Order: sequence, then structure tokens, then C-alpha cells
Amino acid sequence: MAGRKLRPNYRSQGTLDVIASLLRSRFTTFINCGILLLLIAIATALIYYEANYVALNIKTVAGDNLRPTPWHKFPLPDSDNWNRASRLPTILKCNYLSCLSDILGPISHTQFHSNLMDLCPSFFQWIYEDLSPWRHNKITRESLKAAQQHAAFRVVIVGGRLYIEFYYACVLPRALFTLWGLLQLLEKYPGMVPDVDLMFDCMDRPSVKKADYEHKGSPPPLFRYCGHKEAYDIPFPDWSFWGWPQIDISPWTEEVQSIYSSSKVLKWEDRKPNAYWKGNPDVGSKVREDLLRCNKTKDSDWGAEIYRQNWWAEGLDGFRNSKLSQQCKHRYKIYTEGHAWSVSFKYIFACDSPVLVAIPTYHEFFTRGLIPTVHYWPIRRDRLCPSIKFAVNWGNEHPTEAKAIGNAGQEFIWRNLTMDYVLFFALRMIPKSKSF
Ligand SMILES: *[C@@H]1O[C@H](CO)[C@@H](O)[C@H](O)[C@H]1NC(C)=O
Ligand SMILES: *[C@@H]1O[C@H](CO)[C@@H](O)[C@H](O)[C@H]1NC(C)=O
Repeated sequence: MAGRKLRPNYRSQGTLDVIASLLRSRFTTFINCGILLLLIAIATALIYYEANYVALNIKTVAGDNLRPTPWHKFPLPDSDNWNRASRLPTILKCNYLSCLSDILGPISHTQFHSNLMDLCPSFFQWIYEDLSPWRHNKITRESLKAAQQHAAFRVVIVGGRLYIEFYYACVLPRALFTLWGLLQLLEKYPGMVPDVDLMFDCMDRPSVKKADYEHKGSPPPLFRYCGHKEAYDIPFPDWSFWGWPQIDISPWTEEVQSIYSSSKVLKWEDRKPNAYWKGNPDVGSKVREDLLRCNKTKDSDWGAEIYRQNWWAEGLDGFRNSKLSQQCKHRYKIYTEGHAWSVSFKYIFACDSPVLVAIPTYHEFFTRGLIPTVHYWPIRRDRLCPSIKFAVNWGNEHPTEAKAIGNAGQEFIWRNLTMDYVLFFALRMIPKSKSF
């Protein structure tokens, strides 16, 4: 009995053991599989998120900004786009808006006196010019309505509070950082920002053509990031002064500091004796396409090194090779416009290498303050490669003069394009309703 009892017992014990160990190993395998699956899921999610993030952001630097408003409706809450597009601003809002002071440091409350205008950088004089169409003809409801046709959003400031109405979507981070800039203005100049109703567009090219408003009273007042001599659009500081996180560009104060410091590392004489450009040539800009042909090859040497910035690849690579502060290694740098003005202007000038500027047709608010042959070397758009070659040869033969131009350009940007001046400029650009 005992034996019989034992045996099954033993057997059952054994079976149980076997089953248990089997179960245990199954369980471990199961757990392992589970962990593995979980890891795969997390990795997939991360890759998906990353790709999605990159995709969403790459679009902002490569194409979505090229067509004029209106074509990109502000997404409605129930569409997929809304969910995707609205999440990012929420993240950004948390990162940037609520931690404003952490990122930007304490905001100084120095008040500017009106006679300080005389001491301001020369580009301030253009405020008068740019707002002159509305000096004698006051802004009417009709002209604001007309501006709304081209606007992506409307900003109303009443009693120091800012209200916003969106009409069309802006590629990131344009609208968000423009608003952020305005909020800083309200914080820095309490009680000094007048009550206004402003129409903003966030696309690249000016859209209020002067020719369309001849003899028609006041033209539509529309703010954007650049101007053109044949357009009434009012140039306002662009979002990049507050940063461009999607392509790893810090707020201007930090970025200019790091480029400026790095320009002191390699002496001008020790830099490569040619001209450098790196950027995105696929923005519907003829001058950039032409520039590709000036690259040094076996058969031709125009004294230029031209590189294509692949934002997609560099984004996935953590932007390690696109640090602006590592781009002060050539004796000359080249500036060419993109689809309209290019955000790159100030970063290129922050190195002390003389900048060869392919004569631009669009202007940023401050670029009209720089004087050709003093702050930069102008080059012809229609004979781009020979012009570059000529400038490079001239500079290498006249190093003292070339260095002086490089320094003057850098000093202008370093001293006259400080955030204090940028904000003060923005304040002056917001018209007092009486004079507007
Ligand atoms: C900055 O602007 C002022 C006023 O226009 C000018 O006198 C000065 O030369 C500028 N500084 C540089 C470094 O260009
Ligand atoms: C220019 O030439 C360099 C060196 O040959 C090359 O690495 C680079 O990709 C070229 N740039 C373009 C835009 O083709």
C-alpha cells in the first residue's frame, strides 16, 4: 500500500515537479517573451514617435512654408491633423511657455527712454518707413479685413492682455514662438505695449503687393517675417530669435554666444582659404540651385565648398553635424536667400569670416542696417560662381581688409542685434493706434 501509495505519490510528485518546472520555464519564457515584446513595442513606439516627430518637423523646414496663405486651413478639432498638430504645441507649451523664465533667464526691466531711439542701431530708422503708409490714413476696419485675407492669425492686445485667433495653420514653431515673443514684450514693457489689433502671416513671401494698392488709401497692414521693396508687408522679428527646437537651434542669445565664442578658436589665417555654404537648396530658390554649381570639383574651382543640408538625416543623427558653432572654419561664408529671406543670415554673420552676400531681394527687419563692403561683400546673383571666385581671391590677397569686413559684420550682429534691441524694435513696430 505504502509502496503503491508512495509510487503514485512519488510519480505524481515527479509529474508535478516536471509540470511545475515545465510551467516555470514556460513562465520564464513567457515572461521573457513578454519583456521582449514589451521592449519591441516600446522601441516601435519610440521609433514611430521619433519618425513622426521628425516627419512633422522636417516638413516645417522643407516645404510647408512655401505656398502663400490661404492654402493650409487651421485644422478643426475632430480631424486627425488636429490631434497630431495640437499635441506638439502642448508639449512645447509645457517646455517653453510655462518654463519661460528658466529658459530665458531673468528678464531685465530696464526702461528705454524715447531719446534712446537716437542711440539705437541704424535699422530702427526703417520703422518709420515701414509704417509710413498708415501714418496719415488711419487703419480702417476694411483694411484690417483685407489684411485678414492673407493672415494666418490675429493678435489683439488689450490692457496688456493678449488674445489670439487662428485662421490658418503655421508650420512649427512659427506662430507659437511669435506669440511667445509678444508675451515677453508684454512682460518686459508692462503698460507700454499699446492696445492693437494685428494681422500676422507666417508663410515665407510677402503678399501685399504695392502695385495692387496704388491710389487706394491705406493698404492692408500685414505683419510677417520679411519685407520686399515692392510689398507693404511689415517685417517683424521671426520666431528663430526665440529658438527653433525642431532643428536644434537655441534661442538667439545662446546661439550667438556659442558661435561668437567658437569664432575665437581658429584664427582667420588658419581657416580654409575658401567660401563655405551649407543649407537646404530645395526651397524653390534659383540662387541656391545656381550655387550648387559653384562647388569645387576636379575640373572647376570657384573657391567655394557647398554642402547640402539633409535635415531628415541630420535630425535622425541628433544634428551632430549641423551645429552652427562648428561652421567658422572657412575664411569666407556665403549667404543666399531661400524661398524669401533666410533665417540663416544672423547665424552666418555671427562668425567673423567675411560674408559673401548674393544680393538679396527680401529683407529681414535688421538686414537693411548692414552696409555693403563695410559689413559684407556683395556678390552678383547672375554671375554667382565668378563673383565668389573674385571675392575669395581678393580677400586672400588683402587679408587686413577682408578681416575688417568679417569683424564689422560680426560686431554688428553681436552688438546691434541683441535680444534687448530685438524686443525694443518689436515694441516700436507695434503701432500706437493714434499714429497707426
Ligand atoms: C551699431 O549701431 C550703431 C548705431 O547705428 C552704430 O553707430 C554702430 O556702429 C553699430 N555697431 C556696429 C558694431 O556695427
Ligand atoms: C561639394 O563637393 C564636396 C567635395 O567634393 C562634396 O562632399 C559635396 O557633397 C559637394 N556638394 C554638393 C552639394 O554636391
